[in-house]
Formats: sequence, structure tokens, C-alpha cells
Amino acid sequence: KYEKIWLVFGLASLALFLLIIGFAAFWKGTHPQSHIETIDPQNVEAHESFKPENLGLQEVADGKYIVNIVASAFNYDIGNDENDKPVKTIRVPKGSTVLFQVTTKDVVHGFQVAGTNVNMMVEPGHISRLETVMKNAGEFTVVCNEYCGVGHHQMFATVEVY
Ligand code: CUA
Repeated sequence: KYEKIWLVFGLASLALFLLIIGFAAFWKGTHPQSHIETIDPQNVEAHESFKPENLGLQEVADGKYIVNIVASAFNYDIGNDENDKPVKTIRVPKGSTVLFQVTTKDVVHGFQVAGTNVNMMVEPGHISRLETVMKNAGEFTVVCNEYCGVGHHQMFATVEVY
């Protein structure tokens, strides 16, 4: 009779999980990756957000920012600074809302801002977007968490919240 109890328990948890997934998918509208827009990986510059002059940090409203980034092996292109040097640090004030828009020119990369809830997979042909509020001040390291080749560990940048 113990088997019966476990069988009922198993079926009940299965039903519960299905309910949770169903709730998430249909009520809250969280379909995995459905919000991802397509893009030509060979020509990311053709997309307004990924034109060289639009890369990096842009303030779109008071306390609201967009960061456009092109990942490639083995770099995050966040645009160039006024001295034409590649930007490696994104600086935003504490409490600001930041929308990260990331795409890749070649293979699958990761985009994780360690210590925050920002963690995306970046796939060729798609734009990965994630908006977050930077609640805590500090320096957060951006890392690639998808193995992308010999220089995988060299892919990083910094988000500085002040
Ligand atoms: Cu890019 Cu690992």
C-alpha cells in the first residue's frame, strides 16, 4: 500500500508542475525566447541598435538607459570612447533602469553580469534583451558563460554602478 501512496504523490507533483508551467506560459505570457528579434549575424550594423555609433550606453530618459553590445569571439563590442579606444566599462547611477540588448556576429556567447539577475544566452541571428534595475552600487563583471572557443575566458567587461 506504500506504493500506492507514492504513486499518488508522484502524480500529484506532476500535475502541480504542469499547472505551474501552464500558468507561467499562458497566464503570465512567459514563452521562452519568443521576444527575441531576428538579425543578420553577418551584417549586424544594418540594425539600428547595432550601428557602430549606437553601440554602448545611451540615456533614453531620466534614469533609463539602453546598452547595445555586439559579442564576437572573443570580445564584447560596447563602442569606442572619445579617444577611439574600445569601451570596457559601462557606468550607470544606482537605481537606474538598464535595458541590455546583445547580439553576436559569430557563435553562441553568454552575457552574464555577475552579481545581478542579468544572465542571457546570445545566439547568432537573434537579439537578446533584458531590462533590469541596478539596485546595488559596485563593480560587476560581465562574463561569457557559453564556451565559445580558445579565448572564451578573455571575454569580459565591467558594469560600474555608482
Ligand atoms: Cu564568448 Cu565564451
